Amino acid sequence: MTNLAIFASGAGSNAEKIIEYFKGNDRVQVALIVCNKPTAGVLKIAEKHEISTFLIEKEGFFSQNSCVSVLKEHQIDFIILAGFLWKVPDALVNAYRGKIVNIHPALLPKYGGKGMYGMRVHEAVIQAGETESGITIHHVDEHYDEGAIIFQAKCPIEPGDTPEILAQKVHALEHLHFPKVIAELVASEPKG
Ligand code: GAR
Repeated sequence: MTNLAIFASGAGSNAEKIIEYFKGNDRVQVALIVCNKPTAGVLKIAEKHEISTFLIEKEGFFSQNSCVSVLKEHQIDFIILAGFLWKVPDALVNAYRGKIVNIHPALLPKYGGKGMYGMRVHEAVIQAGETESGITIHHVDEHYDEGAIIFQAKCPIEPGDTPEILAQKVHALEHLHFPKVIAELVASEPKG
């Protein structure tokens, strides 16, 4: 069995799509949800689907490397960042090099980097007068939003679209593509 850990900080709609996609799969499963926010919706989703959770706090995550041992205990093979807002510490990148993927709600390399997350991204894209946006799924390295791009998909921005409307379009793309891209990645990568 290939075990996925999903890291999420928010509502967890992508996490839920991934959980549902792999439910009943005899080769891949979501084995752990890692979250940094006790009130995050993703924790309710984990409970509903009976998936173990690990709540992280800053000190343990960034200085003591406690996360790596918990991931190893759960025999995690891949880490999926689905709306996770903290930077991944170098120790974790090293422990899972090539096995961590992130989804970003815009067409990287534009509109990425520190502080560019969620609605802030959509506001910046609309403000810049872009006529299209989309999603980027990429490997995670030591730098925010800079790892090798695995997949992108685009959506048009119509005149009058608000950041909220764009967020809906982008979420629809994420929900459609992210689980499938993860499945392809897992199938193409050696386990361990
Ligand atoms: C998603 O749109 C994801 O792309 C974005 O957060 C949202 C989480 O939604 N991630 C980032 O902005 C990372 N920089 P969800 O909790 O409903 O899955």
